[in-house]
Amino acid sequence: MTLSFSDTYRLNNGIEMPKHGFGVYKLTDEKRMRTALETAAEVGYRLFDTASFYHNEKQLGDFFQSSGLNRNDFFVTTKMWNNEQGYDETLRAFEQSQKKLQLDQVDLYLVHWPKQDTFFETWRAVEKLYDEGLVRAIGVSNFEAHHLDRLRKNANVLPVIDQVETHPYFPNHLLHRYLEELHIVHQAWSPLGRGSVLKEPTLINLGQKHGKTPAQIVLRWHLQNDISIIPKSETPARIKENAAIYDFALDDKDMHQLDRLNTGERVSHAPDVMYIRSEV
Ligand SMILES: NC(=O)c1ccc[n+]([C@@H]2O[C@H](COP(=O)([O-])OP(=O)(O)OC[C@H]3O[C@@H](n4cnc5c(N)ncnc54)[C@H](OP(=O)(O)O)[C@@H]3O)[C@@H](O)[C@H]2O)c1
Repeated sequence: MTLSFSDTYRLNNGIEMPKHGFGVYKLTDEKRMRTALETAAEVGYRLFDTASFYHNEKQLGDFFQSSGLNRNDFFVTTKMWNNEQGYDETLRAFEQSQKKLQLDQVDLYLVHWPKQDTFFETWRAVEKLYDEGLVRAIGVSNFEAHHLDRLRKNANVLPVIDQVETHPYFPNHLLHRYLEELHIVHQAWSPLGRGSVLKEPTLINLGQKHGKTPAQIVLRWHLQNDISIIPKSETPARIKENAAIYDFALDDKDMHQLDRLNTGERVSHAPDVMYIRSEV
């Protein structure tokens, strides 16, 4: 399988999104974030994933202002938090995000978690932002098949992506097939399981076989499963390492070995449990 760092998906509304991006959750220290973003841009990352909940949209916006990158050269995703859901609340949250990011148009706006009580009001607001051209594409995060079934009954616009927890311990294979049928891109959050999977002997052995690190093996496995990735690191050497996954390929046997690591263990909440806690 020939893959390259500049590969993009053509989303179901026709726009292009880089397959391999950079996540910035927990990057709040200004200096460390700046160094990480500079390294990421230099290495060639062009998709940056943030959220109002990460409290770093302003820093990301400041970086774009001074980076020398042309607006068409980077793709920004952000999301409204759970206490910002609802029709008016979402419109207000977007205005704040847009201001902090200092962008006329945000590339992709996501519903961070499926919150049942304001489910359609939030999506109506997101659709309005899309209709008005303030966002180039709209999508969801942490939606399981039953949430998407519910959304599709009343939505005018189908989400372009679903960003969900996905790593070798929690590969989300069934949801992947469902998303494929709907032409919704599967994007993995915590693609490295927040580092929890990296000591697995299978990954160490496959790393030795290919002359790669466990993290590189995992990220390559995602791409070969046709899953978009947004690994986070604030360590320049790792940011480079996570990008250097285009000079080798896993064979079918390697892929099956990785598939067998599935334990069903998540690093975070199940979406419907998160909903119960979503007053936060
Ligand atoms: N939609 C959602 O609900 C949701 C939830 C969680 C995350 N996300 C998004 O997904 C992105 C990625 O997820 P994540 O940050 O939770 O987890 P992750 O990318 O799976 O893992 C990040 C952790 O792995 C370490 N790491 C990164 N590269 C490594 C390497 N090559 N070798 C060893 N360790 C490495 C990082 O350490 P250092 O930083 O210290 O290098 C950090 O501790 C987030 O930044 C965010 O944008 C979305």
